[in-house]
Amino acid sequence: MIYLPLLRPAAPGVLKRAFAAYTISSKQGAGVVLLSGTAYSGRYISTASPRSNSLTAAKSHQLTVEPHKQDKVVSSSETKSHISKEGAGDVAKQVRGDWVLFHPVYSPSELKAVQVLHRKAENFGDKAAYGLVKLARSIFDFVSGYKHVEGPPDANASLEELRKTGYMLSDKQWLSRILFLESIAGVPGMVAATLRHLQSLRLMVRDSGWIHTLLEEAENERMHLMTFMTLKQPSYFFRALVLGAQGVFYNLFFLCYLISPRICHRFVGYLEEEAVITYTRCIADLEAGRIPEWSTLAAPKIAIEYWRLHDNAKMLDVIYAVRSDETTHRFVNHSLANLNTFTDVNPFALREPDMHLKGGKVELTRDEADKYVTESDELFEKNKKHLKRDS
Ligand SMILES: [Fe+2]
Ligand SMILES: [Fe+2]
Repeated sequence: MIYLPLLRPAAPGVLKRAFAAYTISSKQGAGVVLLSGTAYSGRYISTASPRSNSLTAAKSHQLTVEPHKQDKVVSSSETKSHISKEGAGDVAKQVRGDWVLFHPVYSPSELKAVQVLHRKAENFGDKAAYGLVKLARSIFDFVSGYKHVEGPPDANASLEELRKTGYMLSDKQWLSRILFLESIAGVPGMVAATLRHLQSLRLMVRDSGWIHTLLEEAENERMHLMTFMTLKQPSYFFRALVLGAQGVFYNLFFLCYLISPRICHRFVGYLEEEAVITYTRCIADLEAGRIPEWSTLAAPKIAIEYWRLHDNAKMLDVIYAVRSDETTHRFVNHSLANLNTFTDVNPFALREPDMHLKGGKVELTRDEADKYVTESDELFEKNKKHLKRDS
C-alpha cells in the first residue's frame, strides 16, 4: 500500500506533542518510510502506480516538484475548451489525473487481507454508538426491502425470485444502496475536520495532525460516490432523499461532535464495520455470479485513475478497493476513539499501517498508538540522518 502522510512529531515521547512538516514517500511491501527530500512548509507528497510503487528518492523528488496534471500548461485550443461554456458544464471530461488528497493504493494481497471484524462495545458510549448504527442499518434494510441471510434461503429459487423477495439485490438495487450510503459516509470526516479546524483557530493551538486525516476520509468517501455515480444518474426523488438525509445527519453529527468527539469516532468506526460487511457481501455475490450485470463490466475511468487499477480492471476490482478504504476508515476511527481527542497526536499523521494489519485488526489501543508514534519518530530521525549524510 502506498500512503503518504507527512506530519511528524517534533520530539520523541508520548502522544501529546506538536508537529513539523516533511516530505516522505513509502516503499511498498516494506512498510518503511523513506525520506525523499528536504523539509517543506507544506504537504508535498507523491504517489505511484501500485504495480511499480518502489519510488527511488530521485523519482520521488521529481514527482514532488512537478505540477499536478490540472496545473500543467495546456495548448491554447485546450484552454479555450476548458473555459468555454460548452466545456465548463462537463466536469467529468475535464477533471483528469490524480489531483486528490492522499489515499491508500493497495497491492493485490492487501485487497484480500480484509476481514469482517467487530470491536466489542465496552462502555456506555460504545454501546450507544453501536446501538445507533445497528438501528440505522435495520431501518435502512427495512425501507429498502433488503433481507440478508447467509446463503440463499431456497437453494432451488432462481436469481430473479430471490431478487423479487428481497434476498438478493439486483445491480440497480446495489447501486441505489451504495449511492445513498456513500452520500452520507462523506459527512463525518468533513464535520470533524471543520470543527477541529475552527477549534484550532479559536483557541490558537495546533491540531496534532487530525485534520488532514479527517479531510482525506471525507474526500475518499466522496470519491466512492463519484465512482458509482458514473454507473447511474439518480432520480430527482433519490436526490431529494439524499438532500433531506444530509441536512439532518450533518447537523446532528455536528452537535454530537461538539459534545463527544470520542463517541462520534466510535460511531463512525461501527458505521465502517457495516460498510465492510456490505462490500464483502457485494464481492461474494459478484464472485458467485449473482450480479451478472457487473461480472464483465469495466471499471469506471475515475476508479482506474484513483486506485491506480490496471487498464482492464472490472467492477470487482473497484469493489475490492472500496472495501479496503472502508477498512481503513474502520481502523482509523476506532483507533482515534481510543485517544484523548483534545491532547493526543493522531498516530496516522505521519504514516499508516498497511492493509495486512488494518484488515485483521480493528484498532490501535492508546498504548499501541503511542508506540506507533514513537516508532514513526524513530524512523523519521533515522531517515533525517540518512539525508544529512547524502547531502
Ligand atoms: Fe465509502
Ligand atoms: Fe466508509
